[in-house]
Amino acid sequence: MAAAGTGAKPLRLFLLVLCAALLAAAAGEARADAERSRAAVFAEARALAALGRLLFFDPALSASGRMSCASCHDPAFAYGPPNALAVQLGGKDLRQPGVRAVPSLRYLQAIPQFTEHYYDSDEEGDASVDNGPTGGLTWDGRVDRGRDQARLPLLSPFEMANASPAAVVAAVRRAPYADRLRRLAGGSLDDADKVFDVLLQALEAFEQSYRDFYPYTSKYDAWLAGKATLSAQEARGLALFNDPAKGNCAHCHLSARGNDGTPPQFTDYGFAALGVPRNPAIPANADPAYYDLGLCGPLRTDLRDHPDYCGLFITPTLRNVATRRTFFHNGIFHDLTEAVAFYASRDTDPARWYPRDASGAVETFDDLPAAYRANVDREPPFDRHRGDKPALSDAEIADLVAFLKTLTDGYTAGK
Ligand code: HEC
Ligand code: HEC
Repeated sequence: MAAAGTGAKPLRLFLLVLCAALLAAAAGEARADAERSRAAVFAEARALAALGRLLFFDPALSASGRMSCASCHDPAFAYGPPNALAVQLGGKDLRQPGVRAVPSLRYLQAIPQFTEHYYDSDEEGDASVDNGPTGGLTWDGRVDRGRDQARLPLLSPFEMANASPAAVVAAVRRAPYADRLRRLAGGSLDDADKVFDVLLQALEAFEQSYRDFYPYTSKYDAWLAGKATLSAQEARGLALFNDPAKGNCAHCHLSARGNDGTPPQFTDYGFAALGVPRNPAIPANADPAYYDLGLCGPLRTDLRDHPDYCGLFITPTLRNVATRRTFFHNGIFHDLTEAVAFYASRDTDPARWYPRDASGAVETFDDLPAAYRANVDREPPFDRHRGDKPALSDAEIADLVAFLKTLTDGYTAGK
């Protein structure tokens, strides 16, 4: 784990302790926490994570009996989708389409709780600046904890499609790990709500296993630690990534260590409307009145009265992005070069990206109702106009893609 850099170890230990403490606090055991030794707390956190690993890969957790968490979050693809589909198929018959692209589950460990007003901690930039909506899990940040998130796919009719928590618990009562689950649930599997809670906590604990979920083993991490050299093309790509007048990517996808030495996560956890084209491959989009507006709904319901939030989605990490074959919240692109090219020429050559309406005019930002198109981001590289020279040439886009490939975990020197 040498590649993780100096700050990773204290951070990791802190997270582990925090995680263990949270899990212990939530376990609701009769014993008071004060009476439990640190070793006991750690042992329980480890047992939960080990159970979570079994649950994550178990198709018995779905109504079809054929879909596990890993069906959509495949470890061979950094816990992202194993195919190029914009949205995955699930449900009882495995034929019900989802509405959003599957994100990677890597590097979620440090996402802050969702807040509408985010002030940087003193470790990073300026603590007096309100960075706006930040944090949370899913593309719209509508849940904060892994355990609350895990409930969603288990009960969603187009994902694992269980009718109720009780249905999930009935399945795990017959599983080979039922005894381990029973121990963690306090000796009995009778109370379905309690068992379901333990199950969700186990999945959350598994998602905090650093070897699986935040290993920091990319070539870029090795380079940061002085143990690898970037090729000339990769180094050019990094410079373009960081240059505010060129890619300006690092403005949102942070590429430098935090002031306290924590490795870069390649996201600031903020939200932005990029105005990516509407994706006709998503069946829900066949209804012209349906729009996925991210922060302002429809999946998220508490910020519906915030028109200024419509079209905003969370900035994903770019770690392992080169293992993906579907990009952005609606999976509109299937090629990393194309995803980067969109940044370069969204505004200079919109006809390349957007359809034409009946009158032949290019309908920019066609996945947003006209009223919300003003929310779309205009910072560089999105500060150009039709016919201008794009912020990045084709050669520069290729350099950027070469750099993005250095963010894939599992780098071994000499490769
Ligand atoms: C049918 C495909 C599918 C299955 C099965 C599935 N997920 Fe997901 N997962 C998704 C999609 C799509 C999203 C994005 C949802 C959104 O933005 O509303 C997601 C998001 C997540 C997130 C948040 C990631 C982020 O970047 O914020 C976590 C954590 C997660 N899933 C864990 C799980 C767990 C645990 C299971 C098993 C209990 C599971 N998923 C099963 C498709 C799936
Ligand atoms: C204003 C903030 C911002 C800037 C600047 C920015 N991005 Fe992003 N990036 C985002 C957001 C937000 C998304 C998700 C948007 C969505 O899905 O609608 C995203 C998504 C992506 C994705 C798709 C990732 C995935 O998992 O699907 C890639 C690739 C990407 N960005 C690369 C870049 C590159 C390369 C640059 C520089 C040329 C850049 N970004 C500049 C905010 C930004």
